[in-house]
Amino acid sequence: MKSKLKNSITIKWKDSTIELLPSKAILIKETNELLISDIHLGKGEYYQAKGIPLTNNQDHINFARIYQLVKNLKPKKLLILGDLFHSKFSISKELLSRVEDLSHILKIKIELIEGNHDKGCNVINIPRFKMKTSLNLLYSHEPIDHQDPNLLNICGHYHPKVYIKNMKTKIAFKCFALDEKKNNLYLPAFGDLTGGHICRNEFKKWAIISESTILEI
Ligand SMILES: [Fe+2]
Repeated sequence: MKSKLKNSITIKWKDSTIELLPSKAILIKETNELLISDIHLGKGEYYQAKGIPLTNNQDHINFARIYQLVKNLKPKKLLILGDLFHSKFSISKELLSRVEDLSHILKIKIELIEGNHDKGCNVINIPRFKMKTSLNLLYSHEPIDHQDPNLLNICGHYHPKVYIKNMKTKIAFKCFALDEKKNNLYLPAFGDLTGGHICRNEFKKWAIISESTILEI
């Protein structure tokens, strides 16, 4: 297993060079766009309101991880592929102003592809789209059955995970997943409080082992 562990994985699609990062992000080399998905900000507060004792520290950690990524990679643009928020019912004033200050703090453009959880979550200074194309890439939140052999659809929503067996133990890791039949590439959930679903066997997968290592399966 050790020999397959890497600090990032690069895949090519037509004119695009796509770097899969263990920080649960994708960097498109040609356009210098940084993609993340499914942060689910406010999730802790949403469940706390329902009597489920989840930590509310997690958003601070999610913001810190975004700051670090942008500081290290210096992208031209940050694209969030949906589910920036968890629910319109758990957005505090503090959370909203942290999100609205993000572009100013990071000194980059931020765009949001609207996810199903973002409905009714209004942020004044982050432009939002249903989907976007860039080079031969189609960005969306939910996968799109696009039928165009030249397009790769990069999306979130599914929160893919994969089991890795070692001796008698079996551990689930977040992963990137590629459906080679439909040309859909799924990002793992960026948010620390958001888990995932074990993805289909036929998908090609890259498991996130730690913040600095990724494993080609
Ligand atoms: Fe999500």
